[in-house]
Amino acid sequence: MSLRTWTIREVLEWATEDFARRGIESPRLDAELLVAKALGIDRVGLYLDLNRPLLEQERGLIRPLVARRREGEPVAYILGYREFYARRFCVTPDVLIPRPDTETLIDHALACIPVDAPCRVLDVGTGSGAIAITIAAERPLATVTATDLSEAALKVARGNAETHEVAARIRFERVDLVASGEQYDVILSNPPYVARSDIETLQTEVRDHEPIAALDGGEDGLDVVKALLTATEPATAPGAQILIEVGQGQAQSVLDFAIEETSWEPVAVYKDLNRVDRVVHLRRI
Ligand SMILES: C[S@@+](CC[C@H](N)C(=O)[O-])C[C@H]1O[C@@H](n2cnc3c(N)ncnc32)[C@H](O)[C@@H]1O
Repeated sequence: MSLRTWTIREVLEWATEDFARRGIESPRLDAELLVAKALGIDRVGLYLDLNRPLLEQERGLIRPLVARRREGEPVAYILGYREFYARRFCVTPDVLIPRPDTETLIDHALACIPVDAPCRVLDVGTGSGAIAITIAAERPLATVTATDLSEAALKVARGNAETHEVAARIRFERVDLVASGEQYDVILSNPPYVARSDIETLQTEVRDHEPIAALDGGEDGLDVVKALLTATEPATAPGAQILIEVGQGQAQSVLDFAIEETSWEPVAVYKDLNRVDRVVHLRRI
């Protein structure tokens, strides 16, 4: 930017055009979020002040945020948060950015967890804690366990649990899938499910910035899903339920595996907002 005066409107237009040229999907929204963050206001505040000339000091705060986005860093990592199920979750490059697809899992999970009775819930691969914390917040009588292999992710999740005042009802465990000797009524998971050969084809902002351990599901993408179905059998009694988020085209393979290799039987497959089969729901025989 030159030494001429820039208004908020002009800076937004400049950043939007720059992001659009680079193929960024929501250029205007990203520009607004980043400029608002730099100025310490919300997006409504931008619109109330569109014609205000910016101080050089303010432009100095905007430039590095825009530069990071131009380089392909996800806007959620630059902002440090992402909204999920109407709550704000802190995110760092140690955790997957929670996706709207996972809200489909929450909708169906809540239908399985009573409002007026205790329920033991397990969230496997908790990442930012989005699933575990949402369930604890929406179901005050539930006791929740959240596991992850990544200590760095668990630290982020614990912080989010404190923020949303549910830390007392969530036990965080660094363990492979599920600790032995525990029992659960409802198990939830958004595991890594990208087939290894597809990792290269992911958007660069996903592939180059989000943790590979949150994405890589092995050769066919189903390594963790299959291990999860097997590992959770001893942690459940007949009637227990499991809901697992899966990738496009994976639901039938998961059902086939469950029927042939485990004591989990199909209940339903649920579609996400894009009509993609996204959540497999099974019940323990
Ligand atoms: C796709 S991310 C999901 C994060 C979060 N639950 C969400 O929905 O936004 C998968 C998470 O599973 C964790 N993970 C991968 N393999 C695991 C395993 N064997 N046991 C426990 N966690 C695992 C990763 O570290 C990552 O945080």
